[in-house]
Amino acid sequence: MTVSLTIRRPDDWHLHLRDGAVLRAVLPESTRHFARAIIMPNLVPPVVTAADAGAYRDRILSALPDGAAFEPLMTLYLTEDTDPDDVAAAHASGLVRAVKLYPAGATTNSASGVRDFDKVRPVLERMAEIGLPLCVHGEVTDAEIDIFDREAVFIDRVLDPLRRATPDLHVVMEHITTAQGVQYAQSAEAGLGATITTHHLVINRNHILVGGIRPHYYCLPVAKREEHRLALRAAATGGDSRFFLGTDSAPHVDPLKETACGCAGCFTATNTLSILAHVFEEEAALDRLEGFTSLHGPAFYGLPANTDRITLTRTDTPVVFPAKIDSGDGAITVFDPGYPVFWQAP
Ligand code: DOR
Ligand code: ZN
Repeated sequence: MTVSLTIRRPDDWHLHLRDGAVLRAVLPESTRHFARAIIMPNLVPPVVTAADAGAYRDRILSALPDGAAFEPLMTLYLTEDTDPDDVAAAHASGLVRAVKLYPAGATTNSASGVRDFDKVRPVLERMAEIGLPLCVHGEVTDAEIDIFDREAVFIDRVLDPLRRATPDLHVVMEHITTAQGVQYAQSAEAGLGATITTHHLVINRNHILVGGIRPHYYCLPVAKREEHRLALRAAATGGDSRFFLGTDSAPHVDPLKETACGCAGCFTATNTLSILAHVFEEEAALDRLEGFTSLHGPAFYGLPANTDRITLTRTDTPVVFPAKIDSGDGAITVFDPGYPVFWQAP
């Protein structure tokens, strides 16, 4: 049995850090293991301009724990008023690594997102020209579409037409949750990647709803049927470089989760690597963990892989994680995979 595993230091290609007290509380949970992360811009108000992104990056850097070497890779929140020149300047200066597309109303703080995709055509054309990737929250928001079908419908109605109209645009399908998402990512020749979260490799929709409603398993896109979880596991552990880790670790304080209308998000930064090692071991794919966490993402984004390494150790007794992180603004519950994990990350 493998007792330790040394891999290049991972990166997180989709992370919510928030701001203020929550930022300070959750940042060490990511910097402990990850060298870089694509930082989501859905703050209130959102990170829309280069100036917003620069100011947010400064706040993240000043919240870093002592001695942490962590590079926040900033994104801009795409609105129908986004200025292509501002985006191009933010990219040219190295400040911004991607632009995030939220269909308006799809998820947390997405009200300023896109309703009419034609209105963002000029920005997308410019991004294709300069090689700046678009990170996509891939769910339609039409009231008549069942929430469990929203990803598959988005691929057909929005994503595929968008990619055909702008074939040179590099696109990341964020946090895919369906077999259709896996197949679509596999069908593309180049310029399309897909992130997969830790929690979608662990839970299906039963975890949210059977035996009582479990708000800490509620996220968006919502977890689907078991067959979809299995398709995601095959994609993540299969060695295909189009798939890479984006945890979508999304902290909300407990009162905002444990309520009549709770927020979407699973907070997984603390135990993501331990859980991933468990999943990859179950799939007899520990040798492919490094690709998923540390190699495929940088290759897609045109960045070098990290040169330092971390060692995961298999322990005899389950690793103990805190059940909650205290933020000062309230407790944030750490994702519970529902089983013991024996892989300790440093
Ligand atoms: O579960 C989610 N939480 N999905 C998202 O798309 C947004 C995120 C958040 O910001 O809380
Ligand atoms: Zn997210």
